[in-house]
Amino acid sequence: MSVSYQGITFEPLYTKAQIAQIVETIAHRIATDYAGKQPHFICVLKGSVFFATDLLRALPMDCTMSFVQLSSYQGMASCGKVEEVLALNADIRGKDVIIIEDIIDSGLTMHAFKQRLEREQPASIALAALLFKPEQLLYEDARPDYYGAEITKEFVIGYGLDLDGLARNLPEIYKATK
Ligand code: IMP
Ligand code: MG
Repeated sequence: MSVSYQGITFEPLYTKAQIAQIVETIAHRIATDYAGKQPHFICVLKGSVFFATDLLRALPMDCTMSFVQLSSYQGMASCGKVEEVLALNADIRGKDVIIIEDIIDSGLTMHAFKQRLEREQPASIALAALLFKPEQLLYEDARPDYYGAEITKEFVIGYGLDLDGLARNLPEIYKATK
């Protein structure tokens, strides 16, 4: 069934069962790639909170997690600035870090955030995103290492993804009708 926010109609894109399958698949890929390691996950608030908590519960290995909240601004030229509204409160030096994001659009936010994390000298940085809009990507270093599904540029909501703060709590994912 479709839902409506701010006069925009959104049609179902992924059901609860499909999301659970996507999350399970990513968890298994990460568990395979990080076997014998103890990754540190950084959940990027607020959008990835549902994805992060489901992903980590599906992960059959020891890990740690922390949270950040970011706000990005498109600066002049191609360089963007990302502000940490809620700062990272973890020592990631020497750790295998996996950032958990809801969606990669232009990639500006993750481009800037990865550069900031590099300065803390982690052993590695990987990016796991639930959704990826490849046609929109402007920053190649923000291409996710793990993602659930590629989608077109239409705006999506639900399962953490919001429209002006609303619709995050929808258990399914919906996409705007054109
Ligand atoms: P980027 O920096 O352009 O990659 O934008 C990433 C951020 O924009 C995500 O973390 C989301 O908060 C937001 N965003 C991008 N596309 C959507 C969408 O379709 N629905 C909801 N939020 C989105
Ligand atoms: Mg976000």
